[in-house]
Amino acid sequence: MKTTKSPLIFDNYDGESPVATELRRIYHNSKKSAEGRHYKSFLVTSSSRGEGKSTISSWLALTISQFPSKKVIYIDADLRRPRGHKLFGLDNRLGLKDCLADNIDPMEVIKKTRLPNLGVITAGDRVPEPGRLFESEHLREVLNKLEFYYDIVIVDSPPVLPVSDTLFLGSEVEAVVLVVLAGVTPREVVQRTKNVLEDSRANIIGVVLNNATQVLPYFYDYKYYGYSAKDA
Ligand SMILES: Nc1ncnc2c1ncn2[C@@H]1O[C@H](COP(=O)(O)OP(=O)(O)OP(=O)(O)O)[C@@H](O)[C@H]1O
Ligand SMILES: [Mg+2]
Repeated sequence: MKTTKSPLIFDNYDGESPVATELRRIYHNSKKSAEGRHYKSFLVTSSSRGEGKSTISSWLALTISQFPSKKVIYIDADLRRPRGHKLFGLDNRLGLKDCLADNIDPMEVIKKTRLPNLGVITAGDRVPEPGRLFESEHLREVLNKLEFYYDIVIVDSPPVLPVSDTLFLGSEVEAVVLVVLAGVTPREVVQRTKNVLEDSRANIIGVVLNNATQVLPYFYDYKYYGYSAKDA
């Protein structure tokens, strides 16, 4: 299932695929009931490593950016294992880390993509203790500013259980989407993740069952990720 190099997400994206359809559905249903407006900020996370957070969050960003006049920003907030820059084919210098550590204006670090209404903030250079940066008050300021200038903010994140970064993020966004690697992540682990997120006031609005190629081939077909038999 793993590939040696990261293909660009634009080349793998299929708007007609079941994953994109599911993400459209999550977005469509993601309304603040009292106000009837869509949530503006989404965190995509999972219990543990490698469940597909970066893949699904970038697909969510691409999916929402297909909606008419939606300006979307994707933020790679996984400062430990950043992958967003690879998925979008971008340089990783100057990113979220610089906004949190050095109070750099987030609007200054936005990178353009081939889609005019989709911007990306990469993680930025590695730092020794990335977890500390999420305790900073700059996190709220960064999100506030991006929520003002963009219609939708999508945040890719580290896994919930091993580190606390995601708990800070989860309580700062309006909605959380939980990725579960189908057939791999045990039910109790998913339940524990849900409890931990809810205890930190995260609003879980959807679960995406990601398929590691064969578990649910009829539902999430591997071909939608551009994998060929030799990659499997
Ligand atoms: N549905 C899928 N089918 C096949 N491969 C997949 C699928 N989803 C993700 N992958 C692959 O699995 C690997 C992990 O995916 P990804 O990087 O999106 O996970 P992650 O949860 O962000 O990982 P990390 O915890 O390291 O940040 C990548 O090589 C990705 O291309
Ligand atoms: Mg990732």
